[in-house]
Amino acid sequence: MIFATDDKLTVATERNSSEVGRAHGIYVNSTFDGSDLHLLMSLVFTNKEYNGSTLEIQGADKFYQKYREVSVVSGTGIFRLARGYATLETVYLDIPNSNAIIRWNVTVFHY
Ligand SMILES: *[C@@H]1O[C@H](CO)[C@@H](O)[C@H](O)[C@H]1NC(C)=O
Ligand SMILES: *[C@@H]1O[C@H](CO)[C@@H](O)[C@H](O)[C@H]1NC(C)=O
Ligand SMILES: *[C@@H]1O[C@H](CO)[C@@H](O)[C@H](O)[C@H]1NC(C)=O
Ligand SMILES: *[C@@H]1O[C@H](CO)[C@@H](O)[C@H](O)[C@H]1NC(C)=O
Repeated sequence: MIFATDDKLTVATERNSSEVGRAHGIYVNSTFDGSDLHLLMSLVFTNKEYNGSTLEIQGADKFYQKYREVSVVSGTGIFRLARGYATLETVYLDIPNSNAIIRWNVTVFHY
């Protein structure tokens, strides 16, 4: 099972929070028991500060855990050669409707 995403990236977790980019990518159901997703994603920024730059995310996403960590493997634009990690926290999860709000804390080194 593969889920393709074009999700809003917002400043905060409220639904009306202002958009700063989009999360384009895929989640792949990567375990036999469905307990883990493999996450491949570009965080594509559209806000003034980072417009057009991206962060490239990859990792095992144990989505049923409230907290998990994935890698920042690279980036483009002002995030060229970025490396780092992101902690993900599930704020809201509605599995039947494939709907969720996730808080991302991203730490990167870039040049
Ligand atoms: C979002 O909505 C809440 C309450 O509905 C309001 O207090 C807040 O100011 C709104 N935020 C934005 C960014 O519009
Ligand atoms: C992943 O696949 C397994 C096995 O088909 C299934 O039981 C599980 O519900 C799937 N998980 C998700 C998140 O779709
Ligand atoms: C971001 O860049 C696009 C394409 O260059 C431009 O159309 C848009 O107005 C820019 N957005 C901001 C917030 O600067
Ligand atoms: C992310 O940062 C916020 C604000 O510092 C903090 O409240 C939250 O616990 C952090 N979440 C994770 C998963 O580290």
